[in-house]
Amino acid sequence: MQQRVSWNSKLGLILAAAGNAVGLGNILRFPSKAALYGGGAFMVPYFVALVLMGLPLMIIEWVIGRYAGRHGHGSMTGILGLFFNHASWARVLGSIGVAIPLLICMYYIYIESWTLGFAFLSLFGKMPTPVINSDAHEAVKPYVNFFKEYTKPSIMAYFFLVLTLLINWFILQKGIRRGIEITAKIGMPAIIVFGVFLGIICISANNWKGFEGLKFIYNLNFSGITNPVVWVEAAGQIFFTLSLGMGAIAVYASYVNPKEDVIKAGIWTALINEFVEVVIGASIAIPAAFAMFSSVVIPELAQEGTFRLGFMTMPAVFMSFPLGWLISFIWFMLLFLAALTSSLALIQPLIALFEDEMKWGHTKSVSVSMIFVIIGAHFSAFIPNFIDELDFWAGCFMLLLFGLLEIIIFIWIFGMNNFYKELTQNTKIILPKAFFYVVAVVSPFFIFSILYFWVVKDFKNIVFTEEPTKIVARLFILLFLVFLSIIAVKSRKIIMRDIRYTKVMKK
Ligand code: TRP
Ligand code: TRP
Repeated sequence: MQQRVSWNSKLGLILAAAGNAVGLGNILRFPSKAALYGGGAFMVPYFVALVLMGLPLMIIEWVIGRYAGRHGHGSMTGILGLFFNHASWARVLGSIGVAIPLLICMYYIYIESWTLGFAFLSLFGKMPTPVINSDAHEAVKPYVNFFKEYTKPSIMAYFFLVLTLLINWFILQKGIRRGIEITAKIGMPAIIVFGVFLGIICISANNWKGFEGLKFIYNLNFSGITNPVVWVEAAGQIFFTLSLGMGAIAVYASYVNPKEDVIKAGIWTALINEFVEVVIGASIAIPAAFAMFSSVVIPELAQEGTFRLGFMTMPAVFMSFPLGWLISFIWFMLLFLAALTSSLALIQPLIALFEDEMKWGHTKSVSVSMIFVIIGAHFSAFIPNFIDELDFWAGCFMLLLFGLLEIIIFIWIFGMNNFYKELTQNTKIILPKAFFYVVAVVSPFFIFSILYFWVVKDFKNIVFTEEPTKIVARLFILLFLVFLSIIAVKSRKIIMRDIRYTKVMKK
């Protein structure tokens, strides 16, 4: 069997994994959710979900990824196959874990292209002139109109979409070491420096009025713990921000060398991600909004969604600062770098599927994967509602379902003893077995409750629709799943032939 590509260095591996997890979720989605659900009231379920579900699942994905990589598999299709003797049903089920990241990527990359576009527009002084007005709605209005014009999409938006697609293609073509790893080595430190810089500016803004925003987030209180919706959202955020529940971490973990201490790597990934979320992410958008507007409007602004805060409110705030164009540029560059290191990670599962299962060469695997991303990105740009449909089905629903499946298969079916043996290899960090028994029961219960409340609360409203654009989006998702299932079954023959061949050789 041929030697699997691996990361160049320990630092590179951790930065790449951190780049995978750190994304728009940390800097945009997190503050919106925190503001929407009462700041400190949101943070209690958030930290509970982090410890009970996020950290354990992060470690599980690293352990499983290393194990699978040793056997030549990186995509969930191959990984689930590996656990069930490459039975077709297992490979088809695993395809969901390749579909989710790709489907997310199809709209994520379009949003990523806005950040690049807005960074350039800031740099060249093409953002609207700020209106100084303490009424948030008036102050933000020019930026709302600007955003609407831009995302129509304008020619400019299309140009930056193409550019973003080409940048991703170029880096992925360079491969794991010279592409993804180098990008993370440059991108992650830049993200941290830009983030800390903006955090200081926002907290100190308007005579430290921004500090009120930070206090709002950290005013920890238990008023949210009886509200299931807060739990649902907090747990959902943990999944999203740590890139869990879709095999995206496992793919990166499959490229470690077999002796790597994956517990350490997993803990580092989560630590860096949480630093960029609860320290940097908490210090920018909400404090900036507090500094500029009355605190009453903050939840209202958050209500209008993730895009509102990042692409309309924030430029309105930053452009009114001295050297506003520069601060706005840094803000969008921060978002772009965070998004870029994540979009690479969203595409790699499909590349791994083609390389490991179909045994295609690197260039062919990358090209075919990019063609899918390009088609999906065009749908996102030109079909209304496409982004929201994909975000709901792939970015929320399938993600939780697959996370549940991962725990059941990797701990229950693989067996606690096997799992624990694999876990404790090559590590100095000893996690007690009892901890994983708790995880094996608590995490599925947790995820199950989340799904349950979703289904009860708004599943009906979401599922029934006559909106043609939504139906197009769902058909698209379905077709993509069918395509991946066909690949999963077809490639099974290649894998089985390889296994027989290896057996003969061993004799
Ligand atoms: N964690 C990313 C963020 O915070 C988003 C994300 C979710 C992701 N799932 C992923 C990124 C899988 C890469 C791979 O924005
Ligand atoms: N099959 C032989 C054994 O197990 C070893 C062997 C011969 C082998 N040729 C090989 C193993 C080529 C791997 C590759 O003793």
